Amino acid sequence: MSNHNNPGQAPDTGHEWDGIRELTNAPPKWWTICFYLSLLWCVVYFILYPSIPLINGPNEGLLNWSSIKEYKQAVAKYQEIREPYMDQLETMSAEQILADQEMLNFANSYTNALFGDYCSACHGAGGQGVEGRFPNLRDDNWLYGGSVDAIKETITNGREGMMPAFQADLGQAEIEQLADFVIALPQGQATQAGWSLYEESGCGLCHGEDAKGVPDFGSANLTDSVWRFGDSRDEVIRTISKGVNQEDVEGSRSAVMPAFDERLSDNDIKLLTVRVWSFGGGQQ
Ligand code: HEC
Ligand code: HEC
Repeated sequence: MSNHNNPGQAPDTGHEWDGIRELTNAPPKWWTICFYLSLLWCVVYFILYPSIPLINGPNEGLLNWSSIKEYKQAVAKYQEIREPYMDQLETMSAEQILADQEMLNFANSYTNALFGDYCSACHGAGGQGVEGRFPNLRDDNWLYGGSVDAIKETITNGREGMMPAFQADLGQAEIEQLADFVIALPQGQATQAGWSLYEESGCGLCHGEDAKGVPDFGSANLTDSVWRFGDSRDEVIRTISKGVNQEDVEGSRSAVMPAFDERLSDNDIKLLTVRVWSFGGGQQ
């Protein structure tokens, strides 16, 4: 700050420490101006905005602004836009919403958070599922059916597909033969002997005589190439040996879709049904 002065002759305060004197040079003009401007800014801010902590909270300021008021106004504005839609959604059926593009858009944006909170931990953020664990909701391959009613029933009451562990009833050779049969099915290479063993072992009772699955049981379609638990021979052998949801069988597949009837309102379940249906795989 003393560029323009000769420090040797500049006036000082008389204070000196180890040969270093404290000078009394005035600070540069630009600095002084900034200093007074900032004081002025302070005073203006004090008058306009809440600033001084008083006993019952801060003074209000001339503009009467506060962050909480701003927040409440934003929420009120959002509610105002939302309410007529929400009222209308309450009275519409899932089918009606699906037929109305504007309401469908609103329903889908409303359920973004719901799906994120309640479903995505298992089914993934976009409903794509996790291979071997949680089914993909975006494809047109359904365990329990992809109609509006079936999806709604799934979300409301949950699902728990049951398949017995066949290790007790069948020998290892038969299980391996069945696994080879199941793997050959989607490739169109199943043998007659395989079909016979399939029938005799009782697989058809749940998976259907044509092995295409029965939605009431949530038994997988074995003729398509979509695999719930993996298509390697080892994985298929494991499914047949250990079954699905057999609590007392070690290594049994776990496949439990929780019920949401106590956690979500009817309206939210309806809107989630609409969302899942409109992921792309919904069926009539
Ligand atoms: C704890 C994990 C979990 C959560 C959370 C969960 N699901 Fe599921 N969901 C599953 C499992 C596992 C299955 C398959 C059940 C079976 O195989 O029997 C399933 C099946 C489904 C199905 C049937 C798929 C078909 O192919 O028929 C739908 C639809 C579904 N879930 C929607 C939802 C929605 C919507 C939510 C959020 C409200 C949700 N799920 C939350 C684990 C979960
Ligand atoms: C009591 C009904 C029931 C019987 C009997 C049954 N299954 Fe299953 N099976 C199911 C269900 C339910 C699933 C689907 C589980 C799920 O995805 O939640 C399943 C799944 C499978 C899978 C896995 C498919 C995939 O996509 O990963 C295979 C393989 C299979 N079964 C083969 C068989 C064979 C072979 C037999 C006869 C030895 C048989 N099942 C008998 C109910 C049954």
